[in-house]
Amino acid sequence: MITQVNRLQDFIQIRNDLETEDIGFVPTMGNLHDGHLRLMEKALSHHKICIVSIFVNPTQFAENEDLATYPRTLKEDIEKIKMLERKFEKTVIVFHPEVQDIYPSSQQTTYSDLELRNQLEGSVRPTHFDGVTTVVKRLFEIVKPKSAYFGKKDYQQYIIIKRMVDRLHLNINICGVETVRNQEGLALSSRNHYLNSKELKKALKLRKTLLLIKEKLNQVNELSEIEAYLETLKSEESWNYLEIRDPKNLSKVESLGEELVILGNYQVGQTRLLDNLEWSRN
Ligand code: PAF
Repeated sequence: MITQVNRLQDFIQIRNDLETEDIGFVPTMGNLHDGHLRLMEKALSHHKICIVSIFVNPTQFAENEDLATYPRTLKEDIEKIKMLERKFEKTVIVFHPEVQDIYPSSQQTTYSDLELRNQLEGSVRPTHFDGVTTVVKRLFEIVKPKSAYFGKKDYQQYIIIKRMVDRLHLNINICGVETVRNQEGLALSSRNHYLNSKELKKALKLRKTLLLIKEKLNQVNELSEIEAYLETLKSEESWNYLEIRDPKNLSKVESLGEELVILGNYQVGQTRLLDNLEWSRN
């Protein structure tokens, strides 16, 4: 049975009454697509109960960003969740709180990842990760899950949340889930709705370029060779960034190790698209 809860007090009551701690949590901002449903499928496969939050978090949007126009589709989201719930025959609780529940004026402590907050995505969205970590920490306190599921499309978000959980000893398993793509390879994202047909074509360049870099990594032995290759690719102006990093902590690499992650942010019209590809030498 799906349970929908809006008021924080009601959610806390329901959470306290649960007879199990075996809870898989999927935090979302709604407008659910197959990528979100994949996260829920993982949570439902591994836990007795799945809790999904739907909350468009204002603190992770800068003033010039799309908070006002971000798609809010609660009714359709609930229908999608109902279909999954029927398939798994397990309990799903959907928590869709109001801003004042998540950010009561009496309690506003921001969590920041001082090393990673200004790098990669943070270099183009300087306050974004403070907002993400703050809301996720607050949701973790309210939901008290055993595990939480995050899409690896937002690789930096996944790593920053893992680091936060380690540093604060939160005792929650952070599970990264593979990116879901459309038939042409474009990573699913709520922001893909902003693209017209010409832009959708241009967007495919992002994934194609990451695959080219992966191929090049299979051929070279020196970091300098791959750095030179990245420089030529980046001469196309649309790249907000295109980098290779250590997949464990996103630190810069000094040499080509056994494992890397290639991360890119590609500008298509007004929309910044991000994607990444993990690489390992074998
Ligand atoms: O990935 C998202 O949708 C959001 O950043 C998250 C994790 C739900 C926090 O608002």
